[in-house]
Amino acid sequence: MFFLMQGDYVWLDLKTGREFVVPVGAVVKLCDSGQIQVLDDEGREHWIFPQNATNIKPMHPTSIHGVEDMIRLGDLNEAGILRNLLIRYNEHVIYTYTGSILVAVNPYQLLPIYTPDQIRLYTNRKIGEMPPHIFAIADNCYFNMQRNNKDQCCIISGESGAGKTESTKLILQFLAAISGQHSWIEQQVLEATPILEAFGNAKTIRNDNSSRFGKYIDIHFNKRGAIEGAKIEQYLLEKSRVCRQAADERNYHIFYCMLKGMGPEMKAKLGLGLARDYCYLTAGNCTECDGRDDLADYSSILSAMKVLMFSETENVEISKLLAAILHMGNLRFEARTYDNLDACVVVRSPDLVTAASLMEVEPKDVMVCLTTRTLITRGESVTTPLSVEQGLDVRDAFVKGIYGRLFVWIVDKINAAIYRPPSCESSVIRRSIGLLDIFGFENFIVNSFEQLCINFANENLQQFFVRHVFKLEQEEYNLEDINWQHIEFTDNQEALDMIANKPMNIISLIDEESKFPKGTDATMLYKLNSQHKLNTNYIPPKNSYETQFGIQHFAGVVHYESRGFLEKNRDSLHTDIIQLVHSSKNKFIKQIFQADVAMGVETRKRSPTLSSQFKRSLEMLMRTLSVCQPFFVRCIKPNEFKKPLLFDRELCIRQLRYSGMMETIRIRRAGYPIRYSFAEFVDRYRVLMPGIKPAHIQDDLKGTCQQIVSARLGKQEDWQIGKTKIFLKDHHDMQLEIERDKAITDKVILIQKSVRGLKARSNFRRLRSAVVCIQKVWRGYRSRKNYQIMKSGFIRLQAVCRSRKYYRSYRITRCRITLIQARCRGFLIRQTFWRRLRAVLTLQAYTRGMIARRLCQRLRAEHQRRLEAERQRLAEEEQLRNQMTVRRAKAEADRKHQERLFQLAQQQEERDREEKEEARRKKELLDQMEREKEQPVDHSDMVDRMFGFLGDSGPLPNQDGQAPAGFEDLEQTPRGEEAEEEMLNEAPPLPDEEEEDLSEYKFSKFAATYFQGLSTHTYIRRPLKQPLLFHEDEGDQLAALAVWITVLRFMGDLPEPKCQIVINDGSEKIPVMTKIYETLGKRTYKRELQELQVEEEVRRSIDSQKRNSVRHKLVSLTLKRKSKITEEVTRRLTEGVDYGLQGNSMLEDRPTSNLEKLHFIIGNGILRPTEETSLLTASTCCPPSPGRSTTSW
Ligand SMILES: Nc1ncnc2c1ncn2[C@@H]1O[C@H](COP(=O)(O)OP(=O)(O)OP(=O)(O)O)[C@@H](O)[C@H]1O
Ligand SMILES: [Mg+2]
Repeated sequence: MFFLMQGDYVWLDLKTGREFVVPVGAVVKLCDSGQIQVLDDEGREHWIFPQNATNIKPMHPTSIHGVEDMIRLGDLNEAGILRNLLIRYNEHVIYTYTGSILVAVNPYQLLPIYTPDQIRLYTNRKIGEMPPHIFAIADNCYFNMQRNNKDQCCIISGESGAGKTESTKLILQFLAAISGQHSWIEQQVLEATPILEAFGNAKTIRNDNSSRFGKYIDIHFNKRGAIEGAKIEQYLLEKSRVCRQAADERNYHIFYCMLKGMGPEMKAKLGLGLARDYCYLTAGNCTECDGRDDLADYSSILSAMKVLMFSETENVEISKLLAAILHMGNLRFEARTYDNLDACVVVRSPDLVTAASLMEVEPKDVMVCLTTRTLITRGESVTTPLSVEQGLDVRDAFVKGIYGRLFVWIVDKINAAIYRPPSCESSVIRRSIGLLDIFGFENFIVNSFEQLCINFANENLQQFFVRHVFKLEQEEYNLEDINWQHIEFTDNQEALDMIANKPMNIISLIDEESKFPKGTDATMLYKLNSQHKLNTNYIPPKNSYETQFGIQHFAGVVHYESRGFLEKNRDSLHTDIIQLVHSSKNKFIKQIFQADVAMGVETRKRSPTLSSQFKRSLEMLMRTLSVCQPFFVRCIKPNEFKKPLLFDRELCIRQLRYSGMMETIRIRRAGYPIRYSFAEFVDRYRVLMPGIKPAHIQDDLKGTCQQIVSARLGKQEDWQIGKTKIFLKDHHDMQLEIERDKAITDKVILIQKSVRGLKARSNFRRLRSAVVCIQKVWRGYRSRKNYQIMKSGFIRLQAVCRSRKYYRSYRITRCRITLIQARCRGFLIRQTFWRRLRAVLTLQAYTRGMIARRLCQRLRAEHQRRLEAERQRLAEEEQLRNQMTVRRAKAEADRKHQERLFQLAQQQEERDREEKEEARRKKELLDQMEREKEQPVDHSDMVDRMFGFLGDSGPLPNQDGQAPAGFEDLEQTPRGEEAEEEMLNEAPPLPDEEEEDLSEYKFSKFAATYFQGLSTHTYIRRPLKQPLLFHEDEGDQLAALAVWITVLRFMGDLPEPKCQIVINDGSEKIPVMTKIYETLGKRTYKRELQELQVEEEVRRSIDSQKRNSVRHKLVSLTLKRKSKITEEVTRRLTEGVDYGLQGNSMLEDRPTSNLEKLHFIIGNGILRPTEETSLLTASTCCPPSPGRSTTSW
């Protein structure tokens, strides 16, 4: 069991049991599943279970891609050879060597390998130096001939259609080309081929140009190597074809060419028509042959005939005979009976007359000749009638006789032109190259006498071949000093002995029986059986009825049909026919029948039979060949369909077997089939021994080979070392190959390991450097990040430290400042305190004074009242004394006095009570204020509360009005006690205020002096276009305007901003001071201002339809909420006049409370010194207007 891997090549034995089926090469496609899937060379898939994979064998590496010399195949068997041919054929490589044999597979297409360039390439090259080629064989023939001064021969064999004739022609052309003379004789040699082909070739089902004869062309070269002449030997022309053709086959080309190409005059002279008119040309029902141009061929035949010295008369005579044959073929026989004997007559027809006239014989004689037979017995001649069949046979025999002799005459004629007999001078050496284009081994369904002759020839050639190969082997062994004594080989000598060599051989028996008057095919068969039944190479008929006998040929068993053997073998023309020819006036026909005519009747009877003739010529041929150095060309026909690139395995294997090529293999196998030159061996197997250097740097190649082979195969094994080669047996090669495979696999694995390691290492290095790079970058990034973090951390730390330091110093400073502040404040507070104390004391003093004065006044008034009461009492007492007694008057006056005192006391009590009540109320008010202080301040309420006293219809600022709540008493008291106040004049006077001259602060005067543009001191309810005072700074300008707007809003002359009423985005929480700073900071730029102004203008231009817009609604809403806004402002706003000042968040964001406005205005005044004046201006420029008090400012 061997292990298979995908892509392995194997031999797959399909075990069909068929004779010509051999294992097919296949490649493993799948082997990892349960089954092995292989794809064979034919493209078929096979599934094989590994357990029963007995039909698979591993393929030798040499068989995988093919080799040029198949002797080198590890699988030197039929399958190996077949596959090698197949692979090469598929690549359009048609030539392959098997040792010294060239195998040529018919390409059935014209390949560009026969060009003059190719001829040059192959000239003077050794076999094996260049790829296999027919030119290489021709070249070796030629140069071997010259080098070795020895005749050469080239035996070209193969089936019909395999390419023998083409190969012969190619060799001829090559020889003509390299002999380099371009002489007339060379041309004549070349021109012999078309003539021979015209008369000897025909279309068969196997080949459109099948040579129906064997030929041996011996080309003679002079000393210089130029073609000097040639001799053509022909063997066994198939004469029966003249009379009969199988379906789809034709008669010899010459008939068709003649009928196509001959001029009408000549045709008329010969009485010829068209091919279809002749029975001899239409038997195969095929008069045309695709790919052949009969017309053109005819002219080339004629020109070739001219080249080969065929005279015009000869040409005509040939044509006449050919025409006569055709006319004879058209003769019709009619059956008759004479004296109870079957007889026949030839129907009189123009054909008979024409035929007779063409042969220049009497038609009557022809008729007689064809319908009767003259027998001479015991000196008497007896004429017997012939039946129709016999008559037809005689006619056909006559025709065949004519054609056969004509063919022989033509060959002789050609030879006469091209053959120069060797010179008698011994100094003139002539060498030759013989080309044998002969039919290969034949084994048809029915094999007849011809097949026996052909196979006999092939047996001879095979023996020649085998002996040659064996001899070559021996030569090689001798040359290499190899002991070959123990190598034995048996050739086909036994078969040959049985057929033709030993006494009573098959041919002699047939011959004998042919000459025996009573001999029949049956008696012949009987004799054959009785003589050879014990011979292993003879297969007798199975029973007495069987007419076939078999012969074990080198290529297999062939069964021959014995019927007709004797007749064919005799091949003799009846005396009547010879007589008829003799009677002819035509010299030509007489000439071709010359030999027969010359012979007497008896001599003719003893004339050699066909088999003996053939045997003789074969012997001559073999003798010729035996003195030549042979080359073998085996032509293989790849398919029966004459199609290119179609390889029929069974057909090819059959041809390989019939070609006898396997004998080479057998011979090789008997000896040492595997042989390597030392260099090859060392180079191939040095892997088996570590430390062995390649062949080209080896000093002792032989020693190295010996070392390897004895180490690997053992010294006892049957291998031998020659002078230049090492000789091995098959199994040695197998063993060495297996070990080599293993060693190479090990080395491959080692290389793979190393390469993989290298790859992995380089990959690893790449990865590592990539990783290091990434790490570097990452670490750099991380470090930078860490550094940044640390840096910021340190900065923070620094900041913290610094902050701590600063904080500490700040704390210290703060403490100090706080201390200073405290001291200052203390100082200031103390100052204030003292000032206030003084003020309080003053107030107290004044208040106490006032209280004291009030008390004093009250006490005085009390005193006055008491005095008044006393005075009244006294007056009343005085009065009453007049009316009553003193005492009584006194009592009465006292009583009244007491009543008045009592009233006074009551009044006093009343006053005290009121005062107490007043004090309590004030106290309550103070408590309430205290409480309110605790509560969050509502600015607007506060302002309203504070400025609510202004009221809408309150008194004018300079007019008396009601005192604000809680201060009424202050208003009232002086009024109520006006009289009493005057009495206080005596109290210490308050410091007098300095009288100021306010004339220069008059509004009109100030306005005229400082206000910009047309502004006057009069109050306007419109936003100013420019500030009243001039400001350089845009921010100041804006601030001034903003202040003015705020003033207007505060005054209620402008509405609050509208849009943002409903939008509460948190901006309400922006402290007012921030907004002041916004106006202070130059956030509002000119551009912004301009944009806003432009916007304003655009807005102004918008039609009044906007009144119904959202804005309008918002304004309306706003107006509803703001009760303090005047009618006028309401009107303007609803008309769409936008009084919003642009670019100030204070003014635009949202409505502001009055307190915020107040803060904004005052804050601007405080923080923007330049604004102070404006503010003052603005405030002072709020002239008295109805319902508004400037005093509130
Ligand atoms: N080398 C070749 N290159 C191209 N075509 C070839 C070659 N050899 C043979 N053929 C083709 O094969 C046909 C048959 O070849 P060829 O006549 O030489 O066969 P053959 O062996 O002589 O057969 P037969 O025994 O019938 O005479 C040729 O007509 C030609 O078409
Ligand atoms: Mg041929």
